[in-house]
Amino acid sequence: MKVLIQNNLSKKVLIWYDKNKRDLPWRKSKKNLDPYQTWISEIMLQQTTVEAVIPFFHKFINKWPTINKLSESKVEDVMDAWSGLGYYSRAKNMHKTAKIIKKHHNNQIPDEYEELIKLPGIGPYTAGAILTIAFNKKASVIDSNIERIILRVFGIKEPKEKVKKEIIKISEDLCPKKGSGDYVQAMMDLGSAICKAKNPLCDSCPIQKFCFSYAKGLTDSIPAKKMTKPKKIREANLFWMVSNQNRVFLQRRPLKGLLPGMLEFPSSEWINKNENISNEINFPIKGQWEPIKGKVVHIFSHFQLVLRIYMCRDINEKDLKGIWKREKYIPDLELPSLMKKVYKHVFSNIKK
Ligand code: ADE
Repeated sequence: MKVLIQNNLSKKVLIWYDKNKRDLPWRKSKKNLDPYQTWISEIMLQQTTVEAVIPFFHKFINKWPTINKLSESKVEDVMDAWSGLGYYSRAKNMHKTAKIIKKHHNNQIPDEYEELIKLPGIGPYTAGAILTIAFNKKASVIDSNIERIILRVFGIKEPKEKVKKEIIKISEDLCPKKGSGDYVQAMMDLGSAICKAKNPLCDSCPIQKFCFSYAKGLTDSIPAKKMTKPKKIREANLFWMVSNQNRVFLQRRPLKGLLPGMLEFPSSEWINKNENISNEINFPIKGQWEPIKGKVVHIFSHFQLVLRIYMCRDINEKDLKGIWKREKYIPDLELPSLMKKVYKHVFSNIKK
């Protein structure tokens, strides 16, 4: 890549950022930037919008202000603080990584790519984001916003999956040695505010003159649209159990697998639709079971879950080992979004 474009592009982006940057809680003054906060925010920001992350970030940092504090926490508490953010393996890995950093890195986030990438939950994106934002080093950082800008500026018409190496190389070449943290965040903001996926605001773009797609009228066709496969459907029966003291049964999910360590209302195994399974329902306890009208549908990253709900009342609490909660306290629990949906569905459909 011509050095001239590289320098000029990053300069223009940095000037734009000075005037337009978003005021976000993990963007404190550069002098007291805490790599721990960069790490937490970058993990939260994967697959989650900035608006959704802000309250979680504040809550998390107040509860665990340092790596040392996080490393001493119980994994269940970290999972609970994550409830509602989704992609729960992020929280589980974060807890593991805090312990490793305490034990092997003297409570300091490493500032070398090779060390960062060894840590659970830290892949090339997060390693690059930490190196640039927290340590101001030059690195390749590609999130969906930065990727879209690169594809458009360089007029790359192939689907992004086919040009991964090329994008990595361009992103590293574009990253300036000085001010790399600001540059990377500037590109993220530019992608989200100006170089948007739909209807980009090219007339307000500080790097319009470098953009091949703008010059050739290709901003609608680059990035190339991916053919998305419909999601597989899994089905299960969920068991809403109410005791003779009017409390509802919950349990914790295992730490391995989906929604690790989160609270749940128990259910049968989540099984792919059309797998030939018997229609017989294995209720967890004997009693007067009745179906609740309707279904709860929830979309996970790689499948869609459809739950039918069955309810049983008057259970003796001693007969089931787990957590019994009074119905009115359920909304105060740290439940994953799926279980919040179940709760709402049950309450709008049962006869009180
Ligand atoms: N998305 C991912 N990381 C981000 C950051 N540091 N600022 C804004 N958006 C982001």
